[in-house]
Amino acid sequence: MMKNILLINGRRIAYNDAPVAENTVPLVLLHGFCEDSSVWSSILPKLRKLRVVRIDLPGFGGSDQPLAPGMEGYAEAACAVLNELGIGQCVLAGHSMGGYTALAFAQKYPERLAGLALVHSHPFEDSPERKENRFRGIDMLRSGKKDLYVAQLFPGLFAPDFARAHTEILESLVRQGRRQPEAGIIAALEGMIDRADHADTLKTAPCPVLLLGGELDSIVPPDWLYRVAHLPEIAEIHILPGVGHMGMFEAPDNTAEILIRFYRFCESRLPANDI
Ligand code: MLT
Repeated sequence: MMKNILLINGRRIAYNDAPVAENTVPLVLLHGFCEDSSVWSSILPKLRKLRVVRIDLPGFGGSDQPLAPGMEGYAEAACAVLNELGIGQCVLAGHSMGGYTALAFAQKYPERLAGLALVHSHPFEDSPERKENRFRGIDMLRSGKKDLYVAQLFPGLFAPDFARAHTEILESLVRQGRRQPEAGIIAALEGMIDRADHADTLKTAPCPVLLLGGELDSIVPPDWLYRVAHLPEIAEIHILPGVGHMGMFEAPDNTAEILIRFYRFCESRLPANDI
């Protein structure tokens, strides 16, 4: 699918917009680390009744390097796309690093949110071990070992049985990861290392929050989601059984259904003239 390009200070931000007949708030999807917006393709047909906007975060897919560092820089890029499309409010869903971005967006632009969905994501800052791991990744990337780095990244994201049975999905993600420029991957690692804790952002979330996790997710264990589910005024939590970190591939029907239900709930709370 051809992507639209928005130019900000000479840098491209690539996105897809799928308007629908109904005039409605869009569902905006943000992808995770070392991926691009095509990662949502597995559930797109199921979301066809919604207006879905997918954004390539800066440094990934068709988007140039970020203008501003960290998750805030990604959030600014997402906001620039909404502004370009004349979108006031949206339901924003972010997968993993996309969820970290969605939280930065919620802090910066709370008035733009009708709903916030964290898909295999969480509000905590990195532990010292995770930071260390990311620094090792940056060293590998700087010493020209991107292919190796990417190859070892994806297998651990899936539940083991799924990974064994679906090597083609893993291979296509690895191919997609290898296409991402080193500078974009390094900027994302640095941004994740530097990101702040967002428990307070959840506490003051101006809209319903969806926490969608996987029973076997080793990056975002379900326990992390249970620990924060009481923070927002309105929150919904779903843990997909037998699923790792990649629900859109491992359980596409469930993932799409839960997103649609959450979206409809958020939409139903909007004053009629905002829709
Ligand atoms: C992602 O999928 O975006 C990453 O696993 C997030 C992380 O490394 O914390």
